[in-house]
Amino acid sequence: MSTTQTSSFGSSGRIGHNSEKFYNTRLYQNMNIKISNDKIENKIKDENLNQIFAHSCENMHELPDSSVHLVITSPPYNVSKDYDENLSLKEYMELLKIVFNECFRVLVDGGRACINIANVGRKPYIPLTFYVYQIMFEIGFLSRGEIIWDKGASSGVSLAWGSFKSASNPVLRDVHEYILVFSKNDFKRDKNKKNDSISKENFMSYTKSIWQFSTASAKKIGHPAPFPVELPNRLIELYSFENDIVLDPFMGSGTTAISAYNLKRNFVGYEINEEYIKIAQNRLNDAKNSLFI
Ligand SMILES: C[S@@+](CC[C@H](N)C(=O)[O-])C[C@H]1O[C@@H](n2cnc3c(N)ncnc32)[C@H](O)[C@@H]1O
Repeated sequence: MSTTQTSSFGSSGRIGHNSEKFYNTRLYQNMNIKISNDKIENKIKDENLNQIFAHSCENMHELPDSSVHLVITSPPYNVSKDYDENLSLKEYMELLKIVFNECFRVLVDGGRACINIANVGRKPYIPLTFYVYQIMFEIGFLSRGEIIWDKGASSGVSLAWGSFKSASNPVLRDVHEYILVFSKNDFKRDKNKKNDSISKENFMSYTKSIWQFSTASAKKIGHPAPFPVELPNRLIELYSFENDIVLDPFMGSGTTAISAYNLKRNFVGYEINEEYIKIAQNRLNDAKNSLFI
């Protein structure tokens, strides 16, 4: 029995909230949301599990359809980092569409995809998040929401003010990135005798849409743009069960793999740069030996 209803004034109650009235409004008309929840789950061959494959994630032929539970990734930003190709916006989005299509294919129904991305430039500002949303909707993903990662003091705030202390052309300096969260074909996953690993405190904290933690040191890790292990840690605990399979198509220095290992999940990943694969493998070995990561 629901305890609150959508009212003209909104509602602060959420547990047991009856939102039927809201979802029956014309806002949701023609959304054509197809919820399917077949229980098909294909098995990844044992020898392909907990591996980083040294080729482009445009073709994830090692992974059968409906075999992965969670995707966590930070795609190349195409902003002239060491690993970036100088792609046009159109070419860049075409690459991401191929990869995210593959992610859709390999995810089980109810499986989630979490895309960490920042918007770029100022003249003009390119909202990559907007283009990624377009691609994800074209593919058929359902959006679950977005997390603002507040990098705070660690973000190395730009000193490009535009016009300092003047309305002539003040420039916004981003101290945040985004994590866009999607589901394939169903919002819900069946627990199916699987174990959650999240504590009550972390659940209360991670379900809030703004996350605050520091960036990782590129120099220390030896990769130009690693995300901190805190990022996959939170997503894995919130969106997956123990023993699930977590895919990072752009594995870089292996942060997602380390987090999956530490949290008793399996991982699979792709990375085209052999040097980064070596770094990832070393970091994973350190994690297995419980050394500093
Ligand atoms: C933003 S970084 C990911 C960093 C990673 N999250 C970490 O913590 O180290 C993107 C990575 O994608 C890799 N990459 C670029 N194009 C790729 C492709 N087509 N297939 C697989 N990996 C690719 C780059 O070499 C780079 O390491």
